[in-house]
Amino acid sequence: MNFKDYIRVIPDFPQAGISFKDITTLLNQGEVYRSAIDELKAMVQHLKIDVIAGPEARGFVVGAPLAYALGVGFTPIRKSGKLPYETIEVGYDLEYGKDKLAMHIDAIEKGQNVLIADDLLATGGTIATSVNLVRQLGGNVVGAAFMIELADLNGRDKLQDIDVFTLMNYE
Ligand code: PRP
Repeated sequence: MNFKDYIRVIPDFPQAGISFKDITTLLNQGEVYRSAIDELKAMVQHLKIDVIAGPEARGFVVGAPLAYALGVGFTPIRKSGKLPYETIEVGYDLEYGKDKLAMHIDAIEKGQNVLIADDLLATGGTIATSVNLVRQLGGNVVGAAFMIELADLNGRDKLQDIDVFTLMNYE
């Protein structure tokens, strides 16, 4: 299946110069969404994953079904102020802005193998911050899985020691 056929590309959103890759047009086609998750599952199922961590919000729509398909747990990585229990937080730069990401201090057990999942790898800031959080909690990051990679933004450079799995690549 050519998943790119189901991605809607919006020029100059949310600001001039950004070419936004809209996954909603893939998600709302049930068979395509399921195929995308199944394909990611096939790419990562050799890893001994204990839990998948996904950053808000679009990381949830990739990470949670992938966790279900693999029969492993899912833990959310959320923007600051959203998680109710005790958290750790790390600040980061976005492709267009700044923010903080947080995890519950007990979201990962020490030594657990963690796959990080998100819809898109752009500058890599979100995923590098997610890796930082998981490692601070004692997790072992075994890979990072995305629907889309924007190769020109060199996000992989921030993930040099981590295996990256992607369904679609945009130059
Ligand atoms: C987007 C996207 C990734 C991140 C990728 O999320 O879903 O998480 O940016 O960019 P990066 O590689 O440059 O960090 P966003 O922060 O816009 O949040 P959202 O999913 O809540 O829309």
